[in-house]
Amino acid sequence: MSNPFSYGGIVAGKQFCNRKKEMDDLIRAGLNGEKLFIHGERRIGKTSLLRKVMAKFSEKKVISVLINVWKCVDVADFVNVCASGFAEAEGSAGILKRVRKLFNGLSPAVTISDDGRTSLTFERIAGKLSSGQLENVLEASWKIADSNRDKRLVVIFDEFQQVSLLGDDRIERLIRSVVQERSDIAWFFCGSSAHLIKRRFLDSNSPLYRSAGHYPIEAISDEHWIPFISGKFRSTGRDISRTVTKKLLYMTYGHPFYTQLLCSSLWDICEPESKISDDMLEQVLDILLERENSTYHTLWASLPEQSKRMLRAIAFENPLRSPYSGEVLRNYGFTSPSSAGRAIEYLTYHDLITKSMSAGYIIIDRFLGMWCRKNFVV
Ligand SMILES: Nc1ncnc2c1ncn2[C@@H]1O[C@H](COP(=O)(O)OP(=O)(O)O)[C@@H](O)[C@H]1O
Ligand SMILES: [Mg+2]
Repeated sequence: MSNPFSYGGIVAGKQFCNRKKEMDDLIRAGLNGEKLFIHGERRIGKTSLLRKVMAKFSEKKVISVLINVWKCVDVADFVNVCASGFAEAEGSAGILKRVRKLFNGLSPAVTISDDGRTSLTFERIAGKLSSGQLENVLEASWKIADSNRDKRLVVIFDEFQQVSLLGDDRIERLIRSVVQERSDIAWFFCGSSAHLIKRRFLDSNSPLYRSAGHYPIEAISDEHWIPFISGKFRSTGRDISRTVTKKLLYMTYGHPFYTQLLCSSLWDICEPESKISDDMLEQVLDILLERENSTYHTLWASLPEQSKRMLRAIAFENPLRSPYSGEVLRNYGFTSPSSAGRAIEYLTYHDLITKSMSAGYIIIDRFLGMWCRKNFVV
């Protein structure tokens, strides 16, 4: 019998827990042609959710284009991934001819994979882009919308924070003008590095300032996890009590990746026809923390002194609601509110902590938080 939990890749079907509200909201936003900036921690389930939303779109006469920016290192790469994304949306009939028309100047090549699927790739544009190529590729969205008037077009960028690392302001300025021109096309900008992506949309100096509404993706709540987790253990001949499940969820804060990882490891050490105990949970946690030990040590050693204090404060307060209160400053040895502030800035900038909408500051890597609690005393 195989392990029913899955972590690391995109999850779908029976591996996908709930997210009904998010699905409804995003489908509605797509149908309404909204512009949305979708953000959430790394591995919180954004891509899995987007894929599921796209599957629903295809049942609803909506054309959706997914453009993943994570591999891009320069504007030429960006042009390429956009071109491939839009080309895929054009479908297969007469595709090469239409694609040539869609982005004059870019020559596509057909690739046939081992399983017989065809896809289009564009030769990497060497050196400088010719003028108008970036506009051209983004304006392909207009052409697709115009030739499919009975359908809605939704353009989705994943790992959008990468755009701000390409060192070329033109992309964001152009996106802004292309996006604003048409109210009939929906645009989703999805990303995970909270500080980078928030800055794009909330900083008044950024070209994308207020160009899209916000949609945060948060952890999955206990109410949805509990039946999902116990159902999976039960259907594979193992049992888990509500109390142990709640304990596990308290450890992961319902973060999907860490929850699936912990469940999967628990399943591995639990004999068939037996019940998960508290001890097993501790045992699994020890194994996982041991595995990460040297990584966390290296990370810890690289932190400035005040940031170490702040990380420790957040791990123990979990979440840390008032980082500048006299009590916190005293208990964790900060010399002033401003040094605590700088530590928060540093940890945020390095994507180690985030401010959750509902609680306070938390450590993004839930296991790093547990490692701190295990290794330090207040
Ligand atoms: N709805 C979900 N139900 C169950 N597990 C999920 C769900 N969404 C994400 N996960 C878990 O989180 C992991 C990361 O998901 P992913 O969609 O790649 O996140 P992101 O795109 O935010 O980095 C998955 O491999 C899976 O283990
Ligand atoms: Mg993703």
